[in-house]
Amino acid sequence: MPDNSNESPATGAASQLAAQLDEQLASFKSDLESATDEAGLYDLQVRYLGKKGSVSLLRRQMGKLSPDEKKLFGQRFNAIKGELEAGLEARRAELDAIAREAELARRVDLSAVLRGPEVGTLHPITRTWRRLEEIFGALGFDVADGPHVESADYNFDRLNILPGHPARDMQDTFFVRDREGRGGEETGLVLRTHTSPVQVRTMLGQKPPIRIIAPGTVFRRDDDATHSPMFHQIEGLYVDEGVTMADLKATLYRFVGEFFGDALALRFRPSYFPFVEPGAEFDVECVFCKKDRDAGRSASCSVCKGSGWIELGGSGMVHPAVFEACGLDPERYTGWAFGFGIDRMAMLRYGVPHLRIFFEGDLRFLEQYPC
Ligand code: PHE
Repeated sequence: MPDNSNESPATGAASQLAAQLDEQLASFKSDLESATDEAGLYDLQVRYLGKKGSVSLLRRQMGKLSPDEKKLFGQRFNAIKGELEAGLEARRAELDAIAREAELARRVDLSAVLRGPEVGTLHPITRTWRRLEEIFGALGFDVADGPHVESADYNFDRLNILPGHPARDMQDTFFVRDREGRGGEETGLVLRTHTSPVQVRTMLGQKPPIRIIAPGTVFRRDDDATHSPMFHQIEGLYVDEGVTMADLKATLYRFVGEFFGDALALRFRPSYFPFVEPGAEFDVECVFCKKDRDAGRSASCSVCKGSGWIELGGSGMVHPAVFEACGLDPERYTGWAFGFGIDRMAMLRYGVPHLRIFFEGDLRFLEQYPC
C-alpha cells in the first residue's frame, strides 16, 4: 500500500490542488518572460486570473477540502495569486521602462542631404535681347518701349503704310476687338506687327537728337516651320540734323563686330519699306563659314547655303512723310532706322537651327543654355 493509504481523500485532493497551483505558477512565470507588450500581459492576466482563468478555476475546487485544508489552501492560493499579480505588475513596469528607453534613444536624423531649389536660367532670347541692349547702350542708344496692342494709326498710317497696303491685310495682321466687341478694323486696334510704332511714339514725344532702340514682342499671322505668330524684333532710330547713311553703316558694322565678336563684313541691298527712302536690306557675312574664306566658301554651310551671307534685317533713311506725321520738320532733320529679329540673332548666336523650338518651353532644350 502506498504511504498515503491512511490519508483522508480530502488530504490527497489538497496536495493535488497545491501541486496544480505550483504548476500554474511555474508556467505563468515562463509565459511572463515571453510577454513583450501590454496586449500580451493582458492576455496572461485573463488566462490565469480571469473568471475562467486556470488559477481561478483551481480555487473553485476548494469546496471539496476539509476546513483546515481550506484554510491552508486559501493562504497558498492568495500567496500565489499575489505572486502572479506582482509578476504582471513588475513585467509591465519593465516593458514600460524598455519602451521609454527606446523612445529616448530615438534620434531624428536631420542630416539628410536635401535637394536644393532648382535654379532656372534666363531664356536664350532674353539673354540675346539683353546683349543687344548692352551693345547699343554702349553706343549711346536709349531703350524705348511701347504697348503690344497698338493703334493702326501708329502701327501703319504714320509710318506711311497707307490704307490698301498689303501689310494691313487681315491675312498679315491680328486685329483686336475693343471692349464693346467691335472689330479691330473698325476701331483701329492691332497687335503691333513691328516695333516701328515705338519710333512714332518717340518722335511725337521728344525732339531730336533721338537715339533709341526699341526691342519688343511683335505679332503676325505667320505660322509655319520658320515663322511664329509671336516673335521679337529690335529697331533702331537715330534722328538729328545732318544724319547720313554713313552713320547707319558705321553703327551696324560696329554692332555686328561686338555681337559676333568678329569684324564681319556687311552688305546693303536696295529694298523697299514704306517708312524709309532710300531703303536697304542688310546682310552679314556668314559667321559659320567665314573661317573657310581663305580656302573658298563652303557650299555645304547649312546656315548661308553657301552664299556666304546671312540676311539680318531692313534699314533706310526715315521717309519725310514719317517725319511730317510725327511732327518733325523733314527740311531740318534727317535720320535712319533699322530693324531685325532678336530670335534670328539668338539662332545665330547659339547655333539653333529652328525658330519654333525657342517658344515650346521644352526644358530639355532650354537647359542646354545655362547662364
Ligand atoms: N519694321 C520693319 C519690319 O518689321 C523693319 C525695318 C525697320 C525696316 C526700320 C526698315 C527700317 O519689317
